[in-house]
Amino acid sequence: MQPQLVDALARDLAAAGHTGEGIRALLGDAADAALARSVAAPARRAALRSPGPSSTLLRALVLGDTVPTDELADALPALGVEGAVALGLVEVAGDRALPAAVIRPYAFQDALGAGEWWIASDLDELAGRSPLRDDHVLGVGGAARTLAALLPPAAAPVADALDLGTGCGVIALHLRRFADRVVATDVSERALRFAELNARLNGVDGIETRLGSLFEPVEGERFDLIASNPPFVITPRAPGVPAFEYRDGGRTGDGLMAEVVRGLGDHLRRGGQARLLGNWETIGGEGGLARVDGWERSGLDLWAIEREELDPVRYAELWLRDGGTLPRDPAFAPLAGAWLDDFEARGVRAIGMGWLAARRGGAGALRRFERVPQRVALEHVGAHLARALDDAAWLAETDDEELGLARLVVAPDVTEARHQLPGASGPNVIELVQGGGLERTLSVDTALAALVGACDGELPLGVLIGAIAALLEVDEAVLAADLLPRVRELVVTGFLARL
Ligand SMILES: C[S@@+](CC[C@H](N)C(=O)[O-])C[C@H]1O[C@@H](n2cnc3c(N)ncnc32)[C@H](O)[C@@H]1O
Repeated sequence: MQPQLVDALARDLAAAGHTGEGIRALLGDAADAALARSVAAPARRAALRSPGPSSTLLRALVLGDTVPTDELADALPALGVEGAVALGLVEVAGDRALPAAVIRPYAFQDALGAGEWWIASDLDELAGRSPLRDDHVLGVGGAARTLAALLPPAAAPVADALDLGTGCGVIALHLRRFADRVVATDVSERALRFAELNARLNGVDGIETRLGSLFEPVEGERFDLIASNPPFVITPRAPGVPAFEYRDGGRTGDGLMAEVVRGLGDHLRRGGQARLLGNWETIGGEGGLARVDGWERSGLDLWAIEREELDPVRYAELWLRDGGTLPRDPAFAPLAGAWLDDFEARGVRAIGMGWLAARRGGAGALRRFERVPQRVALEHVGAHLARALDDAAWLAETDDEELGLARLVVAPDVTEARHQLPGASGPNVIELVQGGGLERTLSVDTALAALVGACDGELPLGVLIGAIAALLEVDEAVLAADLLPRVRELVVTGFLARL
């Protein structure tokens, strides 16, 4: 990286208004929204109608269009065309500049507020590159946005964090908002160059890049937080099947995920947490979540949240499309065949896709392996997972007698819904409905509904259970034995909170 050139680029991008807001102003709402859906034509049309630096940068650095070199020189007065070539952003052929990378504004919001970064990455399909090169460096996609949302709230600072498989470095940038120091690793030298460029471009220091596979570059080191959107895509090892570096870790099946989980325990500090995205296979009679439960993970609490399960055909189709091969392309049938052969040969019946949250040192406090298929607003999830893992550790150290002394409050996002058959004297179904967290709906009985309703932090749980037992005319000890395990579940799932 050449820091002076990157600084000049940052000045040019800012001066030209190469920001989300600047681009929206240039394109208008409809073309801007189309661009967000990866439909480029309306944006190109709008940009060509308003020539100038902003339009040139949009065409070259967002859409990947060839532009005249004199226009690019006008748009990059501090960097110059030569500087853009030196940074690997364009190549020059005659009087035309051919983009070699994109730089797109990426807006985000976290507990510290709203922000925007410029993220440079390889030319992708939106920028006219299809199929992708094998060593493609990914820009910010849905997966990175999801992982960013799973991170603990930025308001809780940590000393150091690790981004495993950093790619363009966007997760490292997020981590640096609340970590004093971030180590960002990748097997791809090109990815690390992009990550370094992006950190400098956005004026972010304290991110150290390291080349190497999985935990090799951080041998013997521990972190407060580990985040990874690892190359989890299950790819057949067959001749002619491209192994895209950005998504394929080169292992068989879901072996890479198991390796990452195994490594977490050796690289997290006590109390440290991890967030991963991942895929896992259902093989023969063993379901995917049971398989994740079976992965070696000494000293680690683990929570697997399966958001979706695909059959092998849909899985192959998803990743073939992602790599730029469509069902109408001649290559589709042989490639899909290789995927299905691999799944068949290994007895894979389905592939789960989801999130993993881990914490070291809870003495097995949390083992949750569950499907959460409902729509979930991502902005609540990071804080929810962090709190749930800490609460699970607290619950593991708290026996029922101590729990009976605790004062709990019902979470502010919880409402109660009562459903009653017409003419019935009381509710047939009582549900607790969560507005945040994982947006769960839970059927409860009268006693638990009464207990949750009474949890306002004033009286200890044991006193409340005693009063409910008297009201329902049941034995207090029996009621406590029935309710307390369910209270534990309500604490971990965020319906009830500690004061
Ligand atoms: C799915 S991308 C994630 C990139 C970025 N963190 C994000 O969320 O957009 C996975 C990254 O892992 C890298 N990678 C592939 N194999 C790896 C390995 N064995 N060890 C470390 N990183 C690897 C790829 O080069 C790629 O940058």
